[in-house]
Amino acid sequence: MSTNPTATGEGPVGRPLDRVDAHPKVTGAARYAAEIPLPGLTHAVLVGARVAHGRITAINASEAEQAEGVLAVLTHDSIGKIAGQPPLLPSLAGGPAPGETFFPMQSDRVHYAGQHIAVVVADTYDRALHASHLVRVEYAEEPSVTVLDQARDQAYEPEAIFAGFVPGRSERGDVTAGLAEATTTVDRVYSFAPNHHNPIETSATTAYWEGDRLTLHDATQGVTATQHTVAALLGIPHSRVRVVSPYTGGSFGAKAMVWHHPTLAALAARAVGRPVRLALTREQMFTSCGHREEQEHHVTLGADDQGRLTAVRHHKLSPTSPFDHWAEPSLALSGHLYACPNYEGVYRLIRANTSTPTFMRCPGEATGLFALETALDELAERIGVDPLELRLRNYAETDPATGHPWSSNGLRECYQAGADRIGWHRRAQPPRRDGHWLLGLGMATAAYPVYAPNNPVRARARIYADGMATVQAAVTDIGTGVLTAMTQVAAETLGLPVDRCRFEGGDTDLPHAAAAVGSAGAGMVSAAVHTACVELRSKLIARAVADPASPLHGADPTRITVTDGRMAHADNPGTGETYSELLQRQFLPDVEATGSWGPPPHDAPFGMLTFGAQFAEVAVDPELGLVRVRRMAGAFAPGRVLNAKTARSQLMGGMIWGVGQALLEASHMEPGTGRWANASLGEYLVAVHADTPEIDIDLIEVEDTVVNPLGVKGVGEIGQSGAAAAIANAIHHATGHHFSKLPITIEDVLATSGAPSA
Ligand code: MOS
Repeated sequence: MSTNPTATGEGPVGRPLDRVDAHPKVTGAARYAAEIPLPGLTHAVLVGARVAHGRITAINASEAEQAEGVLAVLTHDSIGKIAGQPPLLPSLAGGPAPGETFFPMQSDRVHYAGQHIAVVVADTYDRALHASHLVRVEYAEEPSVTVLDQARDQAYEPEAIFAGFVPGRSERGDVTAGLAEATTTVDRVYSFAPNHHNPIETSATTAYWEGDRLTLHDATQGVTATQHTVAALLGIPHSRVRVVSPYTGGSFGAKAMVWHHPTLAALAARAVGRPVRLALTREQMFTSCGHREEQEHHVTLGADDQGRLTAVRHHKLSPTSPFDHWAEPSLALSGHLYACPNYEGVYRLIRANTSTPTFMRCPGEATGLFALETALDELAERIGVDPLELRLRNYAETDPATGHPWSSNGLRECYQAGADRIGWHRRAQPPRRDGHWLLGLGMATAAYPVYAPNNPVRARARIYADGMATVQAAVTDIGTGVLTAMTQVAAETLGLPVDRCRFEGGDTDLPHAAAAVGSAGAGMVSAAVHTACVELRSKLIARAVADPASPLHGADPTRITVTDGRMAHADNPGTGETYSELLQRQFLPDVEATGSWGPPPHDAPFGMLTFGAQFAEVAVDPELGLVRVRRMAGAFAPGRVLNAKTARSQLMGGMIWGVGQALLEASHMEPGTGRWANASLGEYLVAVHADTPEIDIDLIEVEDTVVNPLGVKGVGEIGQSGAAAAIANAIHHATGHHFSKLPITIEDVLATSGAPSA
């Protein structure tokens, strides 16, 4: 760990402050959505369809209804019709999900295995669970499609993916001409297993009604998104729905979109007239809150004899649900990252009997960059140029898609820092060995878009007469540390020590700032918090200089500084008074300000990407097929860092997910039944401590005056971007073999090493 680009040595911003919510989390005092104690609480358990496609011909709930403690069994016959679809807004803006339009239990149709077909409510969880097994269902099953191999011939090219926000095809120049003029080409098909998020906290909602007012304690990435979606589905004003989510126990995209269970919990609570807790099981998480879809990428690169790209063609094929044209935006970077005049990106979809896929950890870039960056590795090998040198030869001085300057960059410095850290100059050809282990070094570029909503973000700041501050914005902390970072921003802007600032989020009763999605939470919310706190501080200074009783009376407000809650004249620090003295003298219990900040428009004339570079060293045992990641070095330029410790944790977490993506993570769909065969943490492998190498992280300082007031570009996802590609490229260096499917398993390595495979 090295430099922190923001620590000025003075204010709290940038310091490695411990999490403000560490104590309640460690002691268990923090209550998550499934832990809210309420008088008269009841428990709902969902029943999932057992076929992948067909019709329910009979559903008999009488045995379940008569079981002990059961209060209600809701089916498509009894639950009633939803009022309507929520307006389609990107969840970043706080609205509901684009492109996930299905709501279950509205007819007898079954579109995918696990689709919710009944809700059983009982006085205890165990009784509800027991009764859920007593719901008797008969189906008329129909043939299903659940994997690409079953329906390649049915692929179609959508005009746009997720509800029109991303075009199905994007082009510039002439890719055919670019390939014709190339002296070297690489043409490869990559395949990716589906993935599931698997946060530790399974999704849950506790719902209760007070008259016509609904309160939901929900595990979500965005309280406003849940509020708008549930209100629209129920046909009630969204002002009558309050969503509370002070703690969310991990998510990785699983809680970004608003799935069916919060609304089902609200409907169940209305049906039984009591509070309802609805917690998904781990197995239900595999069919109830999306997944990263299976996908196949076809990448064709053309380059001249110097390795300069003449063409990039990137086509993606993936299964979507029966309802929505969903694909994670895997092609988002292929047209932006390198200087290349000719580009073509095309999404193709097939309709499949699965729930709609969704965002997952570095959505799009994790897969898209894997394909692009391993193809570049192959190109480097063919041309005989060092892989890092190849990237530098294709370095994009401006955004190649628009010609606009970058809002900030830092990529060259990231390459340099990461290369120094891993010892790239040691990269020997042929690679070295360590006993029977083959060693390899690989690298890849990391990048992630800087997203911003179209609408303003807001926050509220208040100073009390006792000198304490409370600052609020409706953002949820999904484990990122945003509550801590916002405390630091508020304290620094108001000129207070952090222990006199309290930041509150996770509640729709607070001003709307941003959902914790797209790595944009810290950037957006810090903009709102900063603006509100500047406003409040100005108000207080204005009061002091206008007050004949203040020592600052008549002073120039621009010459006043605030330290430790004391306003003082910059030229004469002995003259001043505290916020508290001012408020007490003026008989004010508190002073409050709201700040609003509008993000740059989407057509702002800047390319806005966060850049980084990933390096990995691996050891491969060709006889046993083992791959061990020995070291990783990541260098990132995420703009201003608000908290050096939580930022580093986020980046490291992303890199560790990269290890999982490269070597472990796969959801296995059973084509006959349409069910996920490994829907448990026992069988869905994620990287654990034993898989995690030594990780170095360098933060490269870049100043960005475009993206938001504090220049925060975000650290949420860039840590995973390019990480799996660096590992695969290191495996290629070690073994000489290009692996083009993820995860790279023991069997895959054995199959290429001549050893007998399983
Ligand atoms: Mo995140 S995967 O953009 O919710």
